Amino acid sequence: MKTTNRVGAAEFRQACSQFATGVTAVTAVDASGAVAALAVNSFTSVSLDPAQVLVCIGVGTSSYPVLSRAERLAVHVLAAEQGELARRLATSGLSGEERLAGVPWVAGEGGEPLLPGAAACFAGPITQRVPSGDHLIFIVEVDHVENGDAGSGALTYHRGSFSVIPAQDRAKGEGR
Ligand SMILES: Cc1cc2nc3c(=O)[nH]c(=O)nc-3n(C[C@H](O)[C@H](O)[C@H](O)COP(=O)(O)O)c2cc1C
Repeated sequence: MKTTNRVGAAEFRQACSQFATGVTAVTAVDASGAVAALAVNSFTSVSLDPAQVLVCIGVGTSSYPVLSRAERLAVHVLAAEQGELARRLATSGLSGEERLAGVPWVAGEGGEPLLPGAAACFAGPITQRVPSGDHLIFIVEVDHVENGDAGSGALTYHRGSFSVIPAQDRAKGEGR
């Protein structure tokens, strides 16, 4: 990995890994029907009005060619039970179709796979692709939102490992 001469790649990666995140599944389809599906933690909500989210996608990922041609994109916030899916979505050497094998997804408005069981899903047209270093920032104008089980636990990623924040016990008065 290339970096500036002032910051080493390993040092930079280690510092980034200290930031605990959720885990999302990004899916899309191109005009030929080829599917992209990958694990992504560079998700951020951008704007409330209009509703926008962003993800950063590496130009060297196997998913990038499909994502560069796709008109729409779906981002799924993975739930605590979706760790196995997250690992498959991050496995090199598998196509998007193979990563979603056995997942009973349905096609969104533009054919983008909408996955069941997520804590939340955001889908819509890609309105901006902003090149930055070895990634592209994809900004999505959200025209479709799904909310999953409000009490579901969260899948998290920290220092290179997946873990889970358990569902909140509302009987204890938490999560207000
Ligand atoms: C927790 C986690 C978060 C990730 N976040 C991103 C991301 O934000 N952007 C990205 O391009 N790749 C991200 N990746 C890597 C992709 O999932 C990657 O494409 C996948 O590991 C397979 O790589 P391939 O391109 O060799 O097929 C992440 C991987 C993991 C495990």
